[in-house]
Amino acid sequence: MICYSLLKAIIYYILNLNTFGIELYFWCFILWYKVKRSIFDNKNYKDKQVLKLVDKIILGIETSCDETSASVVKNGREVLSNVISSQVDLHQKYGGVVPEIASRKHVELIIPVVNQAIEEAGITPDAVDAVGVTCGPGLVGALLVGLSAAKAIAFAWGKPLVGVHHIEGHIAANYIEHKELQPPFVCLVASGGHSHIVHVEDYDSFKILGKTRDDAAGEAFDKVARAVGLGYPGGPLIDKKAKEGNPEAIDFPRVYFEKGCFDFSFSGIKTAVLNYLNNLEQKGEKYSVEDVCASFQAAVVDVLVTNLISAAKHTNSRKVALAGGVAANSMLRKELEKQAGRNGLEMYYPSPILCTDNAAMIACAAYYEFIRGNVSGLNLNAIPGLKLGERG
Ligand code: KG4
Ligand code: ZN
Repeated sequence: MICYSLLKAIIYYILNLNTFGIELYFWCFILWYKVKRSIFDNKNYKDKQVLKLVDKIILGIETSCDETSASVVKNGREVLSNVISSQVDLHQKYGGVVPEIASRKHVELIIPVVNQAIEEAGITPDAVDAVGVTCGPGLVGALLVGLSAAKAIAFAWGKPLVGVHHIEGHIAANYIEHKELQPPFVCLVASGGHSHIVHVEDYDSFKILGKTRDDAAGEAFDKVARAVGLGYPGGPLIDKKAKEGNPEAIDFPRVYFEKGCFDFSFSGIKTAVLNYLNNLEQKGEKYSVEDVCASFQAAVVDVLVTNLISAAKHTNSRKVALAGGVAANSMLRKELEKQAGRNGLEMYYPSPILCTDNAAMIACAAYYEFIRGNVSGLNLNAIPGLKLGERG
C-alpha cells in the first residue's frame, strides 16, 4: 500500500495528473498485465499454439533394397519410431541381394512394419502430416512395393505424398542426432550402390563433387569379403576381421585422379586383392585373412578420407559428414576424425543403425522437402537410376 501511494505520488508529480487519472492509469496497467499473463505467457497455451503451428509429423517408408522399414519422425529431427525388418538372413546364402526375393518379402512385411511404426510412435493416422517414401534409386521391384504402399496410405488418409531420393535420405540421417547441424557441408555418401562426395548447399539442394567411376565402396567390401570366405554383407565382417590384422601388411593400390577431381575407383583395389589371393593360392601358400582385410580397408579408407578432406577445402567448407552403410566402418570414422581435427573441420556421422538403410532418414529428408512445398503427385514413379537432385 505504501509502495502504491508512493508510485501514485511520483506519477502524479511527473505527469501532473489528478488522482482519478492516476487511478485509471494504474488499473489499466494491472488489467493489461493480467490479461497478457493469462493469455500469452501461459506455458500450456504457448506450447499448444507452437504445436499447432509448427510440429510436422512424417511417416517415412523405405524399401529400396533389402530392408523393409517404416518410421515416424517429428519435425525432421525427433524419431518417434523406426522399425527396420532386415532380409539379410534370406539373402546370405546367395552371397548378395536377390531382387525377386527382396520384392516378395517387402510385400509380406510392409503393412505389419507400417502398423508397428505407427503403434510404437503412439500416434493415430490423423496426426500424420505427410507420407515420405524412397522413389529411387534402388531395385525397381523393391522400390515399387514401398511406393505403392505409401501412395495407398496417402490416398486413404488424405495426406500429401513426398518422394525422397535415397541418397538425400542417407545425408539427412546426420540431422537426426546432430540437432545443430545445418547445411552447407560436404558429405561422403558410401554405400553398397553409391560412393559420392556431395556438397549439401541446402536441405534440398545438392552438388555432386565426385563419384565412383566403377564399383561403389560397399560393393568392393562385399566382393573382397566373398573372396576371402567371409559372408554377406561383407562390410561389417571385414571391419571386424581388420581389427586383428596389420593394415600395412600388404600395399594395395590407392587410385587418385587429377587435382580438383574427387572421383573414386575401387575396382583396381578389388582386383589387386583378388590377384594377391590367386597368386598365393597358385603357389600353395596361405594368407592371413586378417591382414588382407586390414590392408584392403586401409586402402579404401585412405582414398575416401583424402578425397573428402580435399573436397571440403576446395569448397571452403568447415563441416564434413559421413553417410551410407560404409559410414558405419570403424576405421573410416577414426581416420576422418583424425584428419578433420588436423584440418580444423567439424565432423559428423550417424549411429550405425542410421547409416544403413532405414526409414527415419527418409522421413527426415521428406520433412525438409515437405516444408518447402516439394510434394509429389499420386503418379509418382519408382526410378531405379534416379539422379541426386531429381524428383521422381
Ligand atoms: O546404405 P546401405 O545399407 O545400402 C545401400 O544403400 O547400398 O549400405 C550397405 C553397404 C554394404 O555394402 C555393406 O557391406 C556396407 O554398406 N557396410 C559396411 C559396414 N557396414 C555396412 N562397409 C564397411 N564397414 C562397415 N562397418
Ligand atoms: Zn542405402
